[in-house]
Amino acid sequence: PARYRTVHFQQIKEAGGKFAMLTCYDAMTAAIFDDAGMETLLIGDSLGNVVQGQSSTLGVTMEDMITFSKAVVAGTKRAFVLADLPFGSYEASVQQAVESGVRLVKETGISAIKIEGGVEYAPHIKALTAAGVAVVAHTGFTPQSEHVLGGFRVQGRQDDAAQRMVEEALALQEAGATMLLMEMVPADVAGAVDKALTIPTVGIGAGNATTGQVLVWQDAFGLSQGRVPSFVKQYANVGDVLSKAATQYREDVLKAEFPDADHSF
Ligand code: KIV
Ligand code: NA
Repeated sequence: PARYRTVHFQQIKEAGGKFAMLTCYDAMTAAIFDDAGMETLLIGDSLGNVVQGQSSTLGVTMEDMITFSKAVVAGTKRAFVLADLPFGSYEASVQQAVESGVRLVKETGISAIKIEGGVEYAPHIKALTAAGVAVVAHTGFTPQSEHVLGGFRVQGRQDDAAQRMVEEALALQEAGATMLLMEMVPADVAGAVDKALTIPTVGIGAGNATTGQVLVWQDAFGLSQGRVPSFVKQYANVGDVLSKAATQYREDVLKAEFPDADHSF
C-alpha cells in the first residue's frame, strides 16, 4: 500500500478513528515501526535530548534535522513522516519559516513539518502552506519556549483555558495547519479542541480524546535511563535487553568464548 497522506488522517478523524505516532531518528528503528503499522513517525527535535544527550532541544540545528530526517524517510515505506523545524529556524519572520520549511522537505523527503507556537504563527503557517509545505501546529507546552514558560508545566489549567485554546486552534486550522498537536494539556481541554476542529489532533500528555497519540519512543520503550514524564506508559524495557546483551557479549569475550568455531572462518 502507498504511503499515508494528510487526507488519510482527515478521513480517520471524520470516521471517529484513531492513529498512532512515535518519534524516530534512524532508518533501522523506522523500518521496525513502519512494519509494525505505525501511521506516522516524527523526527522530533527531542533528538537533542535522546540522541545528542543535551538537556533541551534548543541547540538542535537544521543540519541535525536534515541528517536524521533523511534516515527515517529511507527506513519507511508506509508511514507519514514529519519533522520539527528546530529552534531558531522559523521565528524571525514568515520568510525565514518558508525558507526553512521548504529546505527541510526538499532535502529529506518528509511529508510535513511541525512548528511550535500559537496564533502568532498563523501567518507563518499560511505562507508555508501556500508554498506547498504541509504544517503540523504544536501548542500547549512548547519545549522550545521552556525559558519563557518557566519549565515543563501543564498548560491550559486556567478557568478560561479551554475557550482560549479552542480559539487559538481554530486560528491555526484557518491558517492551513494540517494537524494540531497538543502537549501537556488537561484531557478535557484537549477534547474540547479536538471537537471544535475539523482537522485531526495529536496528543502527548493530553488525554485520550485527541485523534492521534504521540510518544518519544525511548521514553515509552525503556531506552531512556533517566526519569520519564508521568504521562508516558512503559511498553517495553529495551534498555534492559541492551544491557543484558552487552554484559553477556563482554563476558564471552573476556572468557575467550566468543567467537567460537561457528563464528570464525
Ligand atoms: O520533539 C518531539 O519529540 C516532539 C514530540 C514530543 C511531540 O515534539
Ligand atoms: Na519537538
